[in-house]
Amino acid sequence: MNLTTLRIDLDRLHRQLVTLGGIGALPGGGVARLALSDADRAGRDLVVDWMRKLGLQVTVDRIGNVLGLRPGESDGLPVTVGSHIDTVKAGGIYDGNLGVLAGLEVIAVLNDAGIVTKRPLAVGFFTNEEGSRFAPDMMGSAVHQGFLDLDQALAVRGIDGKSVGEELVRIGYAGEVPTGIFRAHCYFELHVEQGPVLEQEGMQIGAVEGVQGISWTEYRISGVSNHAGTTPMRMRRDAGYLAAAISVEARAIAQAMGGDQVATTGLLQFKPNLVNVIPGEAVITVDLRNTDEMLLQAAERRMHEFVARNAAAENLDVQQRVLARFEPVAFDPVMVDLVEREAHRLGYSVRRMPSGAGHDAQMFAPNCPTAMIFVPSVRGISHNPAEFTTQDQIGAGAQVLLGVVLEQAMK
Ligand code: GLV
Ligand code: MN
Ligand code: MN
Repeated sequence: MNLTTLRIDLDRLHRQLVTLGGIGALPGGGVARLALSDADRAGRDLVVDWMRKLGLQVTVDRIGNVLGLRPGESDGLPVTVGSHIDTVKAGGIYDGNLGVLAGLEVIAVLNDAGIVTKRPLAVGFFTNEEGSRFAPDMMGSAVHQGFLDLDQALAVRGIDGKSVGEELVRIGYAGEVPTGIFRAHCYFELHVEQGPVLEQEGMQIGAVEGVQGISWTEYRISGVSNHAGTTPMRMRRDAGYLAAAISVEARAIAQAMGGDQVATTGLLQFKPNLVNVIPGEAVITVDLRNTDEMLLQAAERRMHEFVARNAAAENLDVQQRVLARFEPVAFDPVMVDLVEREAHRLGYSVRRMPSGAGHDAQMFAPNCPTAMIFVPSVRGISHNPAEFTTQDQIGAGAQVLLGVVLEQAMK
């Protein structure tokens, strides 16, 4: 059979995306399936059921990663497709979910055509890619590929005080399969871009060359809570003031450095958080990212010095905790070429590009040839219920995924 004539079934893929997106659906659109929540469990159960119906051999490892294996003609390492199905607290239905369900669609196409690939195939989803509830992000794939200690990950407490280990047991996904030893022949991940570049340039496919470095820090600031009217400015130990200053400094750092540097304060909490009380405690997070490790380190240094100087000036105690730290990752150029070539062969416009978001693929990249395929995000919006990618754009990405998987699995 001529494999180049195989076509993904876009209606089937889209139906599954919408069905999975209905679990944890938010009233005005979008979805909330924080890692290891009840909604995450329901989403997992559904995808596992779909995997079994496709005849995949499903395994769950000790950090709750789920892999479905399809044997090939020969034993050996599987050509692996994966992503995640957890979401941020108010996210879209595409982030992560598309990559997993497109992987299942590849399997469905091969089943329908009665094709057994030479190499085995695996499709998986990895625990807590988002990192919104439990830090770091990419937790499951990091443990899976041997870059994060299992016990350390299981002990992590989330924003609600529960631990990863407890929550895995509670939702029934504390599996038996050991972590850190799975190796893939190669790894592919289809994902929405989550940024504006492809849309602005009118491109259909992104051939992702790598992922930028990520640095997440939490600052817990302690001062003295006091009366907002009676406490002279010179006598204040205002934790809220330093937190606000850190947020402004993060923006200043990114502006001063320019280039690819980005900086975000995504979490800011005051105690007691009342109009007429000086905050005695504050918690703030800073997310710094750059494609260049040296520049990322320079941004971290500048923030570190700023916090130390200003905490001393306001007589505050600051506890600093690294929540996540990943160096920039480059994908295998041969694999990036493969994505580009396949997209061109199918008649799609392609742009090579870095990824601004973190992805499970970056955990595979040091261990096996890895590549990602991006499809556009309408208006560049993501981590937002309004996240949207058109059916045509999804179809193009899934078709490229099918092509590159076959290319690797048939030789
Ligand atoms: C994960 O989605 C990240 O890049 O923050
Ligand atoms: Mn994602
Ligand atoms: Mn995400």
